Amino acid sequence: MEIIDIKKQFIETFGGSDEELRVFTSPGRVNLIGEHIDYCGGHVFPAALTMKTTIVARKRNDNIIRLKATDLDILVETTTQDMASLKGKLKWGDYQLGVAIELMKAGYDIVGCDLLYDDTTPHGGGLSSSAAIEVSTALMFATFSNEKKGIDSSVDMIEMAKLSQLAEHNFIEVNCGIMDQFASAMGKKDHAIFLNCSNLDFEHIPLELGDACLVLTNTNKKHSLGASKYNERRMECEEGLNALKTVLPGINELAEVSVEDFEAHKDVITNEITRKRIKHVVYECDRVLRSVSALKSGDIATFGQLMNQSHDSLRYDYEVTCDELDLLADEARKLSGVIGSRMTGAGFGGCTVSIVKKDAVPEFKEKLGKIYLETFGHPCDFYISEIGDGGREIK
Ligand code: GLA
Repeated sequence: MEIIDIKKQFIETFGGSDEELRVFTSPGRVNLIGEHIDYCGGHVFPAALTMKTTIVARKRNDNIIRLKATDLDILVETTTQDMASLKGKLKWGDYQLGVAIELMKAGYDIVGCDLLYDDTTPHGGGLSSSAAIEVSTALMFATFSNEKKGIDSSVDMIEMAKLSQLAEHNFIEVNCGIMDQFASAMGKKDHAIFLNCSNLDFEHIPLELGDACLVLTNTNKKHSLGASKYNERRMECEEGLNALKTVLPGINELAEVSVEDFEAHKDVITNEITRKRIKHVVYECDRVLRSVSALKSGDIATFGQLMNQSHDSLRYDYEVTCDELDLLADEARKLSGVIGSRMTGAGFGGCTVSIVKKDAVPEFKEKLGKIYLETFGHPCDFYISEIGDGGREIK
């Protein structure tokens, strides 16, 4: 929705005028390559989308927090003291409260407020609609807290990303990495973020794809089993790391293991499934570095091949794809004008990201759309992805 319409709905819901309304926004993200390695200290390569969460907010004079979404008939009302007791009980609103609680623990003074949320990032689509909600919420509460305390420095967006990640761990109970929240907080228009997840060093890299563009294809399959499988993969990585430490005692994280060291020592990982998981992590870390240097030298073809390899590794070794994602990636690669195609995000559903020559996009949509519908009986959706800025207040 346009901001003016969100404001209108805000006033219809909460009353008053538009005088004291504030607007905060933060985007979803697409990850170009480097999947399921942020929590192993790897480098990842996400970019912020122009699909986003927008919050229209108004401070109150008490400690009540009221939350509503433009497309839902639920109104959540709580107080800054009672938020924690709602854990696990809400149909909607848990990302917001989880974030408020983490900010409070970090010393922010949470101000009562009325909030209306509008999301354009598809839910469950693997494009981090949740990080968009978390980071915009964190920015809003931190801004209000600073104003209350008379602090006039700007909000530290990397801190907002970290607190948002903690909300996922503690309130949502998904043990996610930092990639999504970081991309949402620190995105830059027309740039991807080359992020080192072990120390959060990062570089914005211009996403120059020449006569090609990024196309996202949504399976419209929600990753409902995703959370438990996600946590399971994290445990498998832990197990593999512990085994490798017996022969590589200097390592702290899997991203420190080179392809050569892995090949030389992989047999210490006795569980075959765990060994496959670690193989994905080690090779994916290497693929990201090669992708970024290919992109920097304008070699999009190599980047596309690495994307394809990434998908195959997620499919056969990490086993986080699904039939819908595999069909989309397989069929995309058969089409002329497609440079690379892979799943993006946590997997088990959600989207693929493909690099497609601009003049081949109509055929891409038509052919892929047709075979997808014929195979699964429901349509997929396409978005031509634009790369936008990270979280900010809109004044
Ligand atoms: C989810 C998590 C991220 C990352 C990806 C997989 O999106 O939130 O931290 O682990 O899955 O790369």
